[in-house]
Amino acid sequence: MVDLEALEAEARASLAEAGDEASLDAWRVVWLGRRGRLTSVLRGVRDLPVEERPRVGAGANRLKVSLEEAVAAHRSQLLASAADTDAIDVTLPGRAPPLGSLHPITLTRRMLERTFRDMGFDVVEGPDVELEEYNFDRLRIPAGHPARDMWDTIWVADDGDSGPRQLLRTHTSPMQIRYLERRSPPIRVIVPGTCYRYEATDATHEWMLTQIEGLVIDRNLSMAHLKGTLEAFVRRMFGADIETRFRCDYFPFVEPGAELGVRWQGDWLEILGCGMVHPEIIEDAGLDPELYTGFAFGMGVERVAMLRYGVRDIRHFYRNDVRFLRQFEGRR
Ligand code: PHE
Repeated sequence: MVDLEALEAEARASLAEAGDEASLDAWRVVWLGRRGRLTSVLRGVRDLPVEERPRVGAGANRLKVSLEEAVAAHRSQLLASAADTDAIDVTLPGRAPPLGSLHPITLTRRMLERTFRDMGFDVVEGPDVELEEYNFDRLRIPAGHPARDMWDTIWVADDGDSGPRQLLRTHTSPMQIRYLERRSPPIRVIVPGTCYRYEATDATHEWMLTQIEGLVIDRNLSMAHLKGTLEAFVRRMFGADIETRFRCDYFPFVEPGAELGVRWQGDWLEILGCGMVHPEIIEDAGLDPELYTGFAFGMGVERVAMLRYGVRDIRHFYRNDVRFLRQFEGRR
């Protein structure tokens, strides 16, 4: 006599005790495996008396199906409670990957470019490695000229060949010459770019700097156009109340020359050099200096950024300290 009810009760009781995957697997082997207890009942059906076979055979088969279901249900219950107790809190916000942001000098350069574009200027770039001829000679600064001392120069090694000498441009002014070689007036262009100087650094000087060169050539331009343009520009940048001052300065490629300072934290900060393009440079470009005149300027982008953001030491910009750089996150 096979007691299927007793068998089922025993199987369910021991299943209820299985607390992990491994004991579930072991339970399966004992009850439903090839030599499991229910399997051997099914195998033994053919040895039973004929009148018992249908009842035991059908009952054991039904029991097999219901135990398979029970073990599957128990397994998913185990999995669900494991997920509950694991240290995964699916309601926590995700971890944001660190994003870079634009450098304050890039931000300032773009803003300056926008402002000059709005005033009708084109924007072009020139080479960082420049010929001595363009950086100096054709700007009326020949070898031995004392004005060369104004720009302590980083030379590019010449490998002993006798070709023209190259350097890291000390200013963006060589693009005045390059632009005049290719274009004719009216000219209204700015040239943003990096410049390099072999000099000691301090709070307002850095050996690598960004300049924005400006060049305007047309008929009948005067110093009034220079002043009007640059003052309009400064007011657009810093607001109508900004105090400015022009003072005489000397650059061999302009006549007369000046510098523009703005009032900053009670002091004057020079943000650019400027002047009327020297008539010899106009003549060298194949233009009649009696007809054509113009002005040029070279602006220090780091200086403008110092004003804009209230940075007191120019050297912060290239120290790559993320605590400094993070302060510009999200700015435009
Ligand atoms: N190139 C000059 C400098 O680097 C600035 C300048 C540009 C002055 C154009 C006059 C005209 O100091």
